Amino acid sequence: MSAESPKTQATEFTNPNLEVLYTEQQIQERIAELGRQITDEYQDRDLVLVGVLKGSCVFLADLMRVIDLQLTIDFMSVSSYKDGTVSTGDVEILKDLSNPIRGKEVIVVEDIVDTGLTLSRLLEILSSRGARSIKLATFLDKPEPRIKTELRIDYTGFVVPNKFLVGYGLDAAGRYRNLPFIAVVRDPSDA
Ligand code: IMP
Ligand code: MG
Repeated sequence: MSAESPKTQATEFTNPNLEVLYTEQQIQERIAELGRQITDEYQDRDLVLVGVLKGSCVFLADLMRVIDLQLTIDFMSVSSYKDGTVSTGDVEILKDLSNPIRGKEVIVVEDIVDTGLTLSRLLEILSSRGARSIKLATFLDKPEPRIKTELRIDYTGFVVPNKFLVGYGLDAAGRYRNLPFIAVVRDPSDA
């Protein structure tokens, strides 16, 4: 038998390398507020939520359940080209929308806006498709590294410091998307 009881052993969710920044409860409270706001603003409009895969999937799933309106959802997946660790702003569409957005009221749903390069390019692509309006909802806004300072964010969950964050859809090399909270990775080399 191991000396440590199973109760004291760290799990994925209690990993000591993670410092919780927003708890599950704080997140749900904030998303409920965003849901009320969007519900008020999109009455009688033909709303489509467009999730940017993969990071936005958790936020989108929670957000759509607090928007009390008729709506549809769709997804896009894009790869942003990085020059070393810096995003170049070139994006390739890996998965396009399943349905046209012509005449629709679109809210693009993102996990986090960092430099803003990926999203600016994505909005350029979408804006040529005849939507009636395109707005942007991001769960996290990390303004410090922003390059596209003109990028307008309409709905923001939390404004966050310039640290590498994981959980609630955000990953480090694919891991941690399933954490129900947002955390800072204390030692990224050990992530
Ligand atoms: P950017 O705004 O073009 O720099 O890229 C934003 C994308 O980078 C996001 O959609 C995330 O996939 C990723 N990203 C940026 N900051 C973080 C972070 O702190 N944790 C995890 N992913 C991040
Ligand atoms: Mg992303």
